[in-house]
Amino acid sequence: MDRENVQRRADLVARAARSFEIMFGEAPAIFAYAPGRVNLIGEHTDYNDGFVLPCAIDYGTVVAIGPAASDQLCAVASDYGDDCDAFDPNAIFVSQKTEWKNHVRGIAASLAARTGMIQGANLAIAGNVPQGAGLSSSASMGVALAKALVEHQQITGLSATDLALIAQQSENAYVGTACGIMDQLVSAKAEAGAALLIDCRTLDTMPVYMPEDLIMLVIHSGIERQLADSPFNQRRAECEQAAKYYDVPTLRHLTEDRLIADRGELDDVVFRRAQHVVTEIARTEIAANILSNGDIAKLSELMRQSHLSLRDDFEVTMPAIDDLVAMIGKHLGSRGGVRMTGGGFGGCVVALVPKDQVQSVMDLVTANYDPPDGRPVRIFQCLPSSGARII
Ligand code: GLA
Repeated sequence: MDRENVQRRADLVARAARSFEIMFGEAPAIFAYAPGRVNLIGEHTDYNDGFVLPCAIDYGTVVAIGPAASDQLCAVASDYGDDCDAFDPNAIFVSQKTEWKNHVRGIAASLAARTGMIQGANLAIAGNVPQGAGLSSSASMGVALAKALVEHQQITGLSATDLALIAQQSENAYVGTACGIMDQLVSAKAEAGAALLIDCRTLDTMPVYMPEDLIMLVIHSGIERQLADSPFNQRRAECEQAAKYYDVPTLRHLTEDRLIADRGELDDVVFRRAQHVVTEIARTEIAANILSNGDIAKLSELMRQSHLSLRDDFEVTMPAIDDLVAMIGKHLGSRGGVRMTGGGFGGCVVALVPKDQVQSVMDLVTANYDPPDGRPVRIFQCLPSSGARII
C-alpha cells in the first residue's frame, strides 16, 4: 500500500469516527471497510450470467458501528451533512425518499431475511468513492454495511459471496436498481494486486494478477450518472427479450454462431444488445487469460472492441466519452488499453497504461479534455486492492 492510500483511508476512518461521536456521544466499537471497483472488461455481462473482470480500487466506504441502547438501527451519513435515519430493522421495509436510507434499510432487511432477527446498533457511514462515476460507491457502501453488521452482531456462517448477495438484494429489491452481482462480489472478495475474474453463472471467482508495470488510470468524464434513473433497467429487459427469442435461459448460453444463424426476424435493436453481450463474454475470457502474462497489445485490442461494442451495439456510451477514449487510444496505440467502464450513460473511462506513459496520458487529457460539468478533469490513479475487511 502506498503512502497516499494509507492517508486517504485514515481520513475516511476519522470522518466516520467523528460523525459517530457527534451523533452518539461515544466512540464506535468496530470499523468495516469495503472498496469501490473499476471494471476492466466484461460490461453488461453479469446479469446475463457471463464473465466479468473487475478490480477493487483503493477508494471505498467505512462503516463505524457500536451498540445501541434500543432495538433500533440508527445510521448517520457523514457524506450527507450527518443526515440520519433510525428504524426498527426487524419491521417491514418502508421506502424513504433518500436513496442512502433505502440502502441501509435494504441491507438490514436482506440480512434479517437470511439470518433472523437483527439487533439494534448505531452506525456512521463515510465514503470516498466518487459518486455517479460508475465506480460502485453504492456497492461499496452496501458491502461495508453488511460486513459491519455481521461482525458486530457476531453472525456466523456467511461467506464473502453471501455478503455480496445481501448487498445486491438490497439494490435490487429496495433501492430499485436491477444491477447484477459484479460490483458487490468484487467489493467483498477481491485480492490485493489482482483483478477478479467472476463467472456470474456459478459465482466462482479467480484472482488475475496485474502486471506490476501496468497502471490503472480512471478518468471521470464529468458526466454524472444515476443507475436507478438511467436506461439500465431497459437494457436488462432487452437482454431478457433476446434470451427468450433464442430460447436460452440467459445470453451466456447463446453461441456466436446461433446468434447469427437463428437471427430470423429479431428486432435489430434487440439483436445488437445480444450481439454485444455474446461477444463481450468471449472477449472477457480471453482478456483474463492474457492479462497476467502481459500481452498488452492483445489486451489493448480487446478493450478497443469492447468500447466500440458498447457504443454501437449496446448504446450506453456518450459522445464526450467516445472522444476521450479515442484520444487516449490514439496516444497509447498497442502499448495500453482504454474503454468506458461501468454501467455507462456517463461515468468514467479506464485506461491500463505502462508506467512510463502515465504522465503523458495525464498531460494529454488535462490539456485536451473539457469535462461537460465545467469542473477540472479528475484523474484517479488506482491500486488493485483487496475486498471487504474489518480495519
Ligand atoms: C453496473 C451494475 C453492474 C453491471 C455494470 C455493467 O455497474 O451495477 O451489475 O451490470 O453496470 O457492466
